[in-house]
Amino acid sequence: MNAIHKRMLAPSMLSGDFAHLADDIEYVNRSVADWFHIDVMDGVFVPNISFGFPVMDAIAKYASKPMDTHLMIVRPENYFERCAKAGTQWLSFHYEATHKPLEALRLIRSLGMKAGVAIKPATRPEILEPLLEDADYVLVMSVEPGFGGQKFMPDALPKVRTLRELISSKGLDTLIQVDGGISSSNADAVFDAGADCVVAGSAVFKAADRDAECRAIKGL
Ligand code: DX5
Ligand code: ZN
Repeated sequence: MNAIHKRMLAPSMLSGDFAHLADDIEYVNRSVADWFHIDVMDGVFVPNISFGFPVMDAIAKYASKPMDTHLMIVRPENYFERCAKAGTQWLSFHYEATHKPLEALRLIRSLGMKAGVAIKPATRPEILEPLLEDADYVLVMSVEPGFGGQKFMPDALPKVRTLRELISSKGLDTLIQVDGGISSSNADAVFDAGADCVVAGSAVFKAADRDAECRAIKGL
């Protein structure tokens, strides 16, 4: 049992200040946020390149909360072991990036991590049904993956509701994470639809009052 059903927040370090990343890591450590969200992009699966293992290792060194790594890369399986070595506890890959999503989830679990599968906005949530038993979490993208700071796509909400129903009907405790364009202005709607965890990058790091924004997202 994961048994973490509450409003969780995973700030995306992609929106941090890379010249002063330690400050932003320390911020998350002492904030009400729950996880570090680490966005890895390869310039192939998505039209942008973010960062790789040197940065992930550096974050791991200072992070006192779990790291949740979101791989937006082709051939994700090739990097699961390296992510485990970097200390990631939660690891997601994209359904659209592999021909063997079930094997990928099982591989992540066999490496001692929590396994997640992510879907892009155009991907139907029902295709995840046969994977739910092997997934600790599913990630519904509410923007096209590739960039922080985009506008939330409300089409994600019915997808979250569908997944919540599927997960409940199977008696599972797979968590639902939603990622992209989330802030205190729409977090209630996302959690009401059935999400357990939201990712927020620009909303947290660009906020005038970060503490107030994190608390509002979590409904505190
Ligand atoms: C987008 C990433 C997101 C993004 C979130 O491809 O997966 O995690 O950094 O940033 P905001 O919250 O600014 O949309
Ligand atoms: Zn992400």
